[in-house]
Amino acid sequence: MKFFADTAEIAEIRDLAATGLLDGVTTNPSLIMKSGGNFIETVREICSICPGPVSAEVVALDHAEMMREAEVLRKIADNVTIKVPLTPDGLKTCKALSDDGTMVNVTLCFSAAQALLAAKAGATFISPFVGRHDDVGFNGMDLIADIRLIYDNYDYATQILVASVRHPMHVVEAARIGADVMTAPPKIIHQLFKHPLTDSGIAAFLKDWQATGQTIG
Ligand code: E4P
Repeated sequence: MKFFADTAEIAEIRDLAATGLLDGVTTNPSLIMKSGGNFIETVREICSICPGPVSAEVVALDHAEMMREAEVLRKIADNVTIKVPLTPDGLKTCKALSDDGTMVNVTLCFSAAQALLAAKAGATFISPFVGRHDDVGFNGMDLIADIRLIYDNYDYATQILVASVRHPMHVVEAARIGADVMTAPPKIIHQLFKHPLTDSGIAAFLKDWQATGQTIG
């Protein structure tokens, strides 16, 4: 499973890149607002830190304007992935960009039917938002399982990018189902390391080691 960081914070991205865990980055207009940085410059810097796909989202709602914005964004770096919303204009843009060899991430997916449409439009990634889906009383993981089944039925190459991840079990469940990618805030990626038995085991080993009075080297 590939790990993408869902953030526009440069320091967090650098830190994760140093662990070797970072396969890509996703941003959205809200994350750019939170980071306080200039959109284009932020994406440029992220692309220079992370060689994997870096999603940058268009904000236009009509196809022609989406294409214009995509043109600006894809010139930033070769690893820019254009993020488009799951609308008719978004999918028209997805088809045009994909046919042209540009990676496309179709975002704000909340149903298996929408995911099927995105695959047919040639999306590189489909982003089902599991956390937001759970928030309104649905089961985000059922959605991931349905999309996996449908994509496998027809051998679609579109990668399932599990988004709106809220806790470590979302990551584990998504991996069990066979999602291709997950994107999570760095805080959640760090939570994946955590287990109380790891912490207590380290503490016990250190205590016993100190009792030996030895040092290494
Ligand atoms: C994905 O690309 C989105 O940026 C993100 O996962 C949305 O997550 P949220 O529901 O926590 O805002």
